Amino acid sequence: MTNYQVKTYEEYEEAYKRSVEDPEGFWSDIADTFTWRKKWDKTLEWNFDEPNIKWFQGGKLNITENCLDRHLKTRGNKLALIWEPNDPKERFVRYTYRELHEKVCQFANVLKKNGAKKGDRICIYMPMIPELAIAVLACARIGAIHSVVFAGFSAVAMADRINDAQCSMVLTSDGLNRGTKQIPVKRVVDEALESCASVEKVIVVERLGWAVNMVEGRDVWFHDEVQTVSKECPAEEMDAEDMLFILYTSGSTGKPKGVVHTCGGYMVYAQYSFTNVFQYQESDVYWCTADIGWITGHTYLLYGPLLSGATTLMFEGVPTYPDNGRFWQVVDKFGVTIFYTAPTAIRALMAGDIDDVLSYSLDSLKVLGSVGEPINEEAWHWYHTHVGKERCPVVDTWWQTETGGIMISTIAGVTPMKPSHAALPLPGIQPILVDSEGNEITENGVEGYLCMKFPWPSIIRTTYGDHERARLSYFSTYKGLYFTGDGAKRDENGLYRIIGRVDDVINVSGHRFGTAEIEEAINHNEHVVESAVVGYPHDVKGQGIYAFVILRDRPERDEYLRAEIIETVVEKIGKIAKPDKIQIVSGLPKTRSGKIMRRILRKVAEGDTSNLGDTSTLLDPEVVEEIKAGAL
Ligand code: PRX
Repeated sequence: MTNYQVKTYEEYEEAYKRSVEDPEGFWSDIADTFTWRKKWDKTLEWNFDEPNIKWFQGGKLNITENCLDRHLKTRGNKLALIWEPNDPKERFVRYTYRELHEKVCQFANVLKKNGAKKGDRICIYMPMIPELAIAVLACARIGAIHSVVFAGFSAVAMADRINDAQCSMVLTSDGLNRGTKQIPVKRVVDEALESCASVEKVIVVERLGWAVNMVEGRDVWFHDEVQTVSKECPAEEMDAEDMLFILYTSGSTGKPKGVVHTCGGYMVYAQYSFTNVFQYQESDVYWCTADIGWITGHTYLLYGPLLSGATTLMFEGVPTYPDNGRFWQVVDKFGVTIFYTAPTAIRALMAGDIDDVLSYSLDSLKVLGSVGEPINEEAWHWYHTHVGKERCPVVDTWWQTETGGIMISTIAGVTPMKPSHAALPLPGIQPILVDSEGNEITENGVEGYLCMKFPWPSIIRTTYGDHERARLSYFSTYKGLYFTGDGAKRDENGLYRIIGRVDDVINVSGHRFGTAEIEEAINHNEHVVESAVVGYPHDVKGQGIYAFVILRDRPERDEYLRAEIIETVVEKIGKIAKPDKIQIVSGLPKTRSGKIMRRILRKVAEGDTSNLGDTSTLLDPEVVEEIKAGAL
């Protein structure tokens, strides 16, 4: 399964060259290594104007046959999934490929028994328990489209996503463990479903053993349903371009949009990128710390590793519970060889006692990965030195929900590695930098807007229910190009360094939020007239959320009001979007046409008020002085 893994820089160059000169031949050869019920008729059809992108048209497959069934003969008794609970005292769970296959088939039969069928959208709102991985695969098995909603989102956020996709079913649990806390999950689902008419069934997995409200005729316990179903479930035959899943992500405007990925191309790219970037070997124990609620969990906890026949580890807990050594204890416990995490986790652990790392051996580690946001040099060096013992390559992987898989990254031990640089594109990926007019900047040692000029198999196909939105968001800024929303530098040697978002998207601990989305939530508070949200540099989170808020009537008790505003955001989006700072202001800097000058607010939030640029065109320049004086 590891053919098409480049093992030297020369092989990388050769593969890259072929992928550009003959993309169809290149991807077709790779796709040939998978199990197809019927081979595709046409490898690629595309234009970025509509956009219309189709890979492996006419091909028939089921991704779970590639994740599970095809491994049974040679890897039936190999571990597929290891699950480590939140509490180290609780026993871990592990499933071989044979066992996982059986579990997925059973879950798939429970779905069918409850009326789910091919093409249905199913919302999964579950914590990081094995049943989450199983549920995702069970949906894919029967051809239902999964829409996983991270279990930290609020009832309102979940309801928005369920309604947008018109989901007919929700898969959830009674509750979840997170560090010292236990959180009721089913209660959030019940609240969401008060405004979701499309949902007919809710399947509940027991995690905490809590008594929960079960709605007659709608809600069933998974452990009851599974008693009577078969352990076999033939996989549904899917077209390569049938939808595999929807995953909601934030953009610069409006509500989060449902990014759509399809079966064939996503499968091919997930496996290819996984096996190459991490230089995966058969005996590896691989651990990605991301939650399956995010794209990283989809592609590199679940699909990529299982497609490759790897042993993948899933962790229910948090890096700081019961102490800061938890990650490293788990690495030693299972002999993890490839470890993939986010800069925010590294920065949080860096702030702790160094002995929390040094007291573990970490001998098993071979490759370290980083994802989700720029990794600052200090964090990079700490990770490389103290975790990787200067022995393990660090791969800084740049990609997005929309790209489905890693796009620009060092290939461990194969292509160049440079702190804070994602470095070179993977074979098949054709990044370019453009100026604000959309003209390509071809030389090195430059900075520009990061775009892609050719499709790769796991590129976003559409935004669910609104194709025009996909066109406008990604394919209309620069004609004929996919625009990432990121700015990047290319150094003298052609290595890319991602600078960050150039739109109104902020990245908090590797999680994306649109500033407009947070403002809308804040404005729901009855005391708020208007608000403006910007990101600012934050030591641990990468970016923090800074909100400038105008109140209807300025009360004496600002602190109380701040807490109330935070509560509104928690209710509308979730705890992960809580503003870190709220500055109450009497006005916002606006141009005469009424546009908020965010540039000024960003400077204030960054604590750099020395040069705010030209403020003379503002409607009310005085407000800037007030905002400067009140900066937090
Ligand atoms: O700004 C980039 C940043 O995260 C954005 C994508 O967010 P999301 O769709 O949630 O996916 C995150 C996990 C793939 C990008 O537009 N980003 C992601 N990885 C990196 C990064 N920024 C710098 N370096 C990275 N390695």
